[in-house]
Formats: sequence, C-alpha cells, structure tokens
Amino acid sequence: MNGVFITGTDTGVGKTLCAAGILEAYRQQGFSTIAMKPVASGCEQTDEGLRNEDALLLMQHMSEQANYDEINPYAFLPPMAPHLAAARNDLVINSGALVEQAHALASRADRIVIEGAGGWLAPLNEQQTFADLAVQFKLPVVLVVGIRLGCLNHALLTVENIQHRGVNMAGWIANIGLENTSDCLDIGENIATLESRISAPLLGKIPYLNDQNILEIASILVI
Ligand SMILES: Nc1ncnc2c1ncn2[C@@H]1O[C@H](COP(=O)(O)OP(=O)(O)O)[C@@H](O)[C@H]1O
Ligand SMILES: [Mg+2]
Repeated sequence: MNGVFITGTDTGVGKTLCAAGILEAYRQQGFSTIAMKPVASGCEQTDEGLRNEDALLLMQHMSEQANYDEINPYAFLPPMAPHLAAARNDLVINSGALVEQAHALASRADRIVIEGAGGWLAPLNEQQTFADLAVQFKLPVVLVVGIRLGCLNHALLTVENIQHRGVNMAGWIANIGLENTSDCLDIGENIATLESRISAPLLGKIPYLNDQNILEIASILVI
C-alpha cells in the first residue's frame, strides 16, 4: 500500500482536517486517492444507515468512488471509545478484516489515507490498539499534534511508541488552529522544542482556518 496512516496526540486535534488536506495534496501531485476511516463512533443515524462525519468529509476529498461501508466498515452510534461501543453491539472489531479491506481499497488508487480514531494507543478490541492496526497496515505514520498546553508530553510519548514498534514516521503536523492553542503561551518555542526532539520532519503548521479550507491545508503541507 502507498499512502499514510494519520494519528494524533488526542481526539479533536485536527486529524480529519489534515487527512483531507493530504488527500488534496496527493491529488494535486497527480495521484488518484482513496480514504479509509476503519472505525468510527459517534455516528449519526440516517435513512441509509449510520454515518460518520469524518468518513463523509474524507469521501468528499478523495478522487475515487467507493461505497460508504467500504470506507468506514465499523460505524457505531454512541460517542464512546470504539471497543466499548463495539461491545455494546456484541461485536469485536476484527483487525484482520480491516487490513484486508484496506488492501482492497488501496488497490483502487495510487494513494490511500487512513484515519485512526482517538490517539495512537486507543483500544481497538480487548487485545489490540490502533497502533497494532497501524503496524499491520505497514503505512508510514503522520502524527497530528494539537498545539496546546500538555502537547509536548503527548507528542513525545506518541513518537516514542511509534519508533518502539519500528513504524516509519512520514512526519508530524503542528496544528496551531485549535480553540485552546491560545492556552500555549509560546507556540513557536513549543514547536521548536518538538522539532529538536522528533527526528521525522515537520510537514507544516496549520493556522486557524475559519472555513475549514482543506485546499489551504493541502497548500501548506509538504508531503
Ligand atoms: N486549524 C484549524 N482551524 C479551525 N478549526 C480547526 C482546526 N483544526 C481543527 N479544527 C476544528 O476542530 C475540530 C476537531 O478537528 P478534527 O479534524 O475533527 O479532529 P480529529 O479528527 O483529530 O478528531 C473540528 O471541528 C475542526 O473543524
Ligand atoms: Mg477525526
């Protein structure tokens, strides 16, 4: 598979916006693209079935066509950790099935962009985490760091675990556009601290984007 797996320092740090930006960046480079949101909770009940806003946004920014269920095989209604939402439905998330589905999707485009849920070690089922899934995807990882108070620890812990697992990091993104980024008194020094401690490249700094301008994110990212 060619592409990237998107993780973040937490939920709500800009993974989906960055994943959409990367899809558009790849498209501008002339690649056909497809996306995957393997597991999503907090979905909405519609006439067509459960729908997740991350998966729907990613589908808007990929060049290839696919059915919703192919892009988001596990969709759950309650906004809770996926393995708990699955358990409520008497389901166990099957990582092997997700890896197979990722390969099927990836064979239909030049690049695949897969967005995890939550952070790197969010549980997938009783035994596994999203990190285990990412290892099986064998895709380079992009870490989205939501720049705010506490992000240095979250970012460095995540990078340490990614490296410990022998997973290649394509780079990291500094999202300085979160509501609570302003809790961080010196954004520049925080970013410099991370740059000096993370060997993978900084792919771009995303400012506050009023209108969720995905093409602007694509133009910022060097990927
Ligand atoms: N740079 C930014 N500018 C404006 N809004 C942002 C920015 N980054 C994230 N957001 C907003 O914050 C929320 C969480 O972002 P999202 O990409 O969904 O994060 P995640 O996928 O990590 O949960 C969304 O409402 C998104 O529009
Ligand atoms: Mg998301």
